[in-house]
Amino acid sequence: MGEFVVRGGRRLNGTVRINGAKNAALPIMAAAILADEPLVVTGVPDLRDVRVMQRVLEALGVRVERWGTTLRLDPRPLQGYAVPAELMQEMRASVFVMGPLLARLGVATIVQPGGCAIGDRPIDLHLKGFAALGAEVREVDGATLVRAHGRLRGGEIHLSYPSVGATENLMMAAALAQGETRIRNAAMEPEIVDLAQCLEQMGCPVRGAGTREIRIIGQDRLGGGEHPVIPDRIETATFALAVAAAGGTLRLEHCLPAHLPGFWTKLEEVGVEVEEVDAETVVVRAPDHYPATGTAVATHPYPGFATDIQPQWMAFVTRVPGLHIITERVFENRLGHAQELRRMGAHILVDQRTAVVRGGTPLHGAAVRAIDLRAGAALVIAALGAEGETRISGREVIERGYERLDQRLGQVGADIAAE
Ligand code: UD1
Repeated sequence: MGEFVVRGGRRLNGTVRINGAKNAALPIMAAAILADEPLVVTGVPDLRDVRVMQRVLEALGVRVERWGTTLRLDPRPLQGYAVPAELMQEMRASVFVMGPLLARLGVATIVQPGGCAIGDRPIDLHLKGFAALGAEVREVDGATLVRAHGRLRGGEIHLSYPSVGATENLMMAAALAQGETRIRNAAMEPEIVDLAQCLEQMGCPVRGAGTREIRIIGQDRLGGGEHPVIPDRIETATFALAVAAAGGTLRLEHCLPAHLPGFWTKLEEVGVEVEEVDAETVVVRAPDHYPATGTAVATHPYPGFATDIQPQWMAFVTRVPGLHIITERVFENRLGHAQELRRMGAHILVDQRTAVVRGGTPLHGAAVRAIDLRAGAALVIAALGAEGETRISGREVIERGYERLDQRLGQVGADIAAE
């Protein structure tokens, strides 16, 4: 396992270009399976998770070519319907191929997905949705097999929770089903809207993406085309919190500040200056000192405060004098980074799903571990604002979601090395 070594106390100044969104790219890559022509996806970040999805698709017969940030996915040689177990264990998002495989080949099988260690993360909502479209779901030798007898039929699906992954998987399955599918209590994340636009581009009308009810008009076949993925809103927030913790001014380009509703106001409440220059650019300026203030955030599905920003927010508020309450409502076990932050001197109490941070006390360097992707990003943020050297093990975990983080932070003044 590699490390990031950060020497804190340096301000960040300059411009960062935000990459395409990992969580938009992954389902869109899987959507290529639905087509009978190549799909070209642009703005795809070069990340471990994206490479795992590429291997999953290649294992199923899809031909994948990459040049720069463009991927060309040719599904015509598609043959397999079983996701190799080792790839499934490596990345939970491999589950995204299930819906497209079921719709296209009438069958898909997976072992229980792996990925980040945040809670149980079942896939029951995906499976119930497939069943509502007429698929049979069975456990066979520890693997889950879904099979359509004939073509999938459009249907009514009510999600008991607006799961992002289930919404995406079901949208893709419904795209080749016979007739119309309604997904009620659907997730409303920007990545859902991006997938809907890609499906539209491929020839499937999708109505209501970005609202609680999505209608998908199933098609007999889907074509390819070209689709650009949206900028990564989690990366945007991570860089914003990095400069807020370290001090200085960052201009974030190629981001969509509108995809972080409520987040900017939270930053402004504690004294960070946020200037939305235009629809794709934001300038974030940290004050010289944070006045004493208290904050409270609770994570919720979009448009609520994103769970994928919660760890980085926790790291940031250790800099702000006052009491800060953080409640994690999306995942049942996502406050483990508090313990790592404590090793750096942070004062944090955790009770079940709530953490209370007493901010404004200095952090010091320590040896810490990235327990999951965003927890790792939180440690980098804490380390940038800490005194002395922090060694963050599990660099590969952070690199699942951040491309060349050391170089990009280094270019704006951070002292960070990958070892
Ligand atoms: C996606 C994101 C992830 C983000 C999460 C919530 C991708 C690749 N990942 O994950 O970064 O943290 O949304 O914004 O896009 N649940 C069930 N049954 C299911 C599915 C989910 O109980 O069948 C529960 C989960 O355990 C969790 C909650 O629903 O408590 C939210 O999960 P979900 O929205 O599905 O997250 P993912 O799609 O896995």
